[in-house]
Amino acid sequence: MRTILITGASSGIGAALADRLAGPDHHLLLVARRKERLAEVVQGVVAKGGTAHGICANLADVGAPALVIDEAVRLAGGLSAVVNNAGIFETAGIGALNAEHLDRLFSINVQAPMLLTQAALPHLRGRQGGQIVNVSSIAAESAFPGCGAYAATKAALEAWSRCLREELRGARVRVTVVAPGATDTEVWPADTTHDRTRMCRAADVAEAIAFALAAPVTASIDRLVVMPPGGPL
Ligand SMILES: NC(=O)c1ccc[n+]([C@@H]2O[C@H](COP(=O)([O-])OP(=O)(O)OC[C@H]3O[C@@H](n4cnc5c(N)ncnc54)[C@H](OP(=O)(O)O)[C@@H]3O)[C@@H](O)[C@H]2O)c1
Repeated sequence: MRTILITGASSGIGAALADRLAGPDHHLLLVARRKERLAEVVQGVVAKGGTAHGICANLADVGAPALVIDEAVRLAGGLSAVVNNAGIFETAGIGALNAEHLDRLFSINVQAPMLLTQAALPHLRGRQGGQIVNVSSIAAESAFPGCGAYAATKAALEAWSRCLREELRGARVRVTVVAPGATDTEVWPADTTHDRTRMCRAADVAEAIAFALAAPVTASIDRLVVMPPGGPL
């Protein structure tokens, strides 16, 4: 049984991934802040015959990533893979940027995956086929007005992922980036003017992550892009 830790598992892509991986082959460790929503996802996995534990944490808090890994290892005895999916999407043009906004975005979109991965690595190294999957965005490479700070967090996540992949080549730990385009989840405000029917489903992105996680140890799936068939919104 593989032990897979998924951050941001209380909704959207993370919850869809938990549902996709639910079954006898995986022990899932699901991380997010909203306790009740996390408990619903855990119940859904168990109802499908799977094993899951919820770990309630704000990953942007100082020291939280290391505590989450300690708890995950205590619950599951080890780790096979970490999916750094938790993230926030907030828009602000250059005139509206401020330190609080930047800190909020960078602490969860960049710093948390780095520190969580650092804490997880001692448990992944030496395991045949240890994996890190970082959920980025097409914003890392595309240009959307008002999305500069968010795009910078995802570009940073991808730059770090490339370096990490090189650092870990000798340690049997593979690093995958999954970059979704617009996907119909709660990151889009209820009153968004974008057409949700044109967006990907969370399950579509979950399928790509599951594909990377299932890759044989002889294959490193470096980067996957999942786009709405109609193109960027
Ligand atoms: N939807 C899109 O169009 C799209 C496109 C490209 C990339 N992405 C990326 O996909 C990832 C998942 O987002 P989503 O679309 O599935 O949106 P979502 O439904 O809002 O999911 C975000 C998840 O992150 C968790 N989270 C946020 N801040 C956290 C914190 N400080 N500590 C712990 N957990 C935290 C949330 O849980 P709690 O609130 O319960 O903590 C939630 O489970 C994000 O990294 C996002 O940037 C999304």
